[in-house]
Amino acid sequence: MIIHTPLGAVGLAESGSGVPVVLLHGFPHDRALWAPQLAYPASGFRYIALDLPGFGDSVQLAEANLDAWADWLAAVLDTMKIDRAVIGGLSMGGYLAFAFWRRHPGRVSALILADTRAGADSEEARAKRREMQSLVLAEGSGAVAEKMIGGMVGKSTREKRADVVAILDAMMRRASVGGITDALQALMDRDDSTETQGTITVPTLVMCGEDDTLTPVAESRAMVDAIPGSRLGLIPSAGHVSNIEAPAVFNGLLSDFLAATIRRGQS
Ligand code: MLT
Repeated sequence: MIIHTPLGAVGLAESGSGVPVVLLHGFPHDRALWAPQLAYPASGFRYIALDLPGFGDSVQLAEANLDAWADWLAAVLDTMKIDRAVIGGLSMGGYLAFAFWRRHPGRVSALILADTRAGADSEEARAKRREMQSLVLAEGSGAVAEKMIGGMVGKSTREKRADVVAILDAMMRRASVGGITDALQALMDRDDSTETQGTITVPTLVMCGEDDTLTPVAESRAMVDAIPGSRLGLIPSAGHVSNIEAPAVFNGLLSDFLAATIRRGQS
């Protein structure tokens, strides 16, 4: 469905009822990434998967940076009349979750950080983002999908789950050129969240596919060491998009965390 906020149209999908759990996709995905989670929402929870700015049915914002996206997320919650929510993000969605925590901590009841990292881009990573901006402008989203699909999933998914690879490939191909260029800008300019980790006071679940090569397990272990009281869930036979590569394990870790840490009826 599409809702209309003061910052424009926003695409979303939701399922379940109860405490809101907002799910933020990675790059260059859209809300369909979370279909395996929306199919089995944890009892007592309302899962809401958003299209981030410029992806799916959500319009691009005037500013391509994660602070602007964090304020956009607050405006989306306002429009939905949601005061506080569990904020969960995969990769780029995790970077946004950190920015949202910095700017709107009172609106976060718990954090889920999947296949992501706290650090900012290196100079080398920024150069690669600029190359990808040129690539998408010259050749379109298909070229980005071709470049990224191999590293996005783990070995086991690549070899045995052609269906999952096809879903991700199609998702990346339908991403808009403007959405991709804006997101790359936001990613390369993002603040370092290393210091932010120690300020987190809400329950936090860190998850990672054991075969993730884009944001390897070491990054998740470092986040768990730095975020007070956080817990780690590792997902076997999954790469960077662990939620769609191994949904049963991902959903189990998520449900257990939500049931253990968030009181039913809390908003
Ligand atoms: C993502 O999946 O969101 C990207 O891999 C994040 C990144 O490129 O840093």
